[in-house]
Amino acid sequence: MSTDADISRLAEHLDRARSVVVLTGAGVSAESGIPTFRDALTGLWARYDPTELATPEAFAADPATVTRWYDERRQSVARCEQNPAHEALANLERALVDRDASFLLVTQNVDRLHHRAGSERLVELHGTLCVWRCTKTGREFEDLPMPFEEYPPKSADGGLLRPGVVWFGEQLPHGAMERAEDATMACDLFISIGTSAVVYPAAGLISTAARAGATTVEITLEPTPASGAVDISILGKAGEIMPRVVGAMGGG
Ligand code: OAD
Repeated sequence: MSTDADISRLAEHLDRARSVVVLTGAGVSAESGIPTFRDALTGLWARYDPTELATPEAFAADPATVTRWYDERRQSVARCEQNPAHEALANLERALVDRDASFLLVTQNVDRLHHRAGSERLVELHGTLCVWRCTKTGREFEDLPMPFEEYPPKSADGGLLRPGVVWFGEQLPHGAMERAEDATMACDLFISIGTSAVVYPAAGLISTAARAGATTVEITLEPTPASGAVDISILGKAGEIMPRVVGAMGGG
């Protein structure tokens, strides 16, 4: 089916939906200039080995290098702007909430661009670069100096500051996955946008939605392991597709 036809179908599903869950990944922030994780060449992991940087063991072995790398990402994210995909999702939330439908945005992204675009019903499954946590007390800090004066940065509580993101092998933030799963099991429309659908438990939400009887949709630049299983698969840029989808709602 053509992209135009799929966009119209998705808009019709949104017009009828009583409960919508959207899962986003790095592809939603790609058009803001933030590298995705796995896209060849530009992917963040293409240049770094995650096991060397994104694990508690890496932090314990070399906290200066790990915190410097995350602070560089924090600074580059601060220089980026939300893009039309983020804005379309914030508009979609307002349109659904205005007609008493339920909506939840479940993001794997740690850049807070959904917040900046105005999304409110939001779960950050993998934490955020904008919050750093004291290794001694667990207290969280925001609005910290940028860049840090030293690496690793020291906390006011006497420990070190680590980024408030989920590292490989760590638990997701308390309650985040439960909230995402509850909403997914109750939704009638599930839209996965800009994720390679290879990192669990987030990727498992797509099949959870299908098992719960929801219509499942994927919007991504290249096919993923989920593409063959969803009801509607749209290949394209989120920043182009999502504004067209929201614009087509209500017969627009
Ligand atoms: P990936 O880099 O794995 O996947 C990005 C997806 O976005 C791919 O399917 C691309 O085809 C697609 N994409 C790229 N540009 C796009 C665009 N402009 N519009 C739409 N889609 C686009 O990133 P994630 O799936 O988010 O976890 O990675 C999931 C997790 O893996 C991350 O949260 C991170 C990493 O390990 C942690 O750090 C815990």
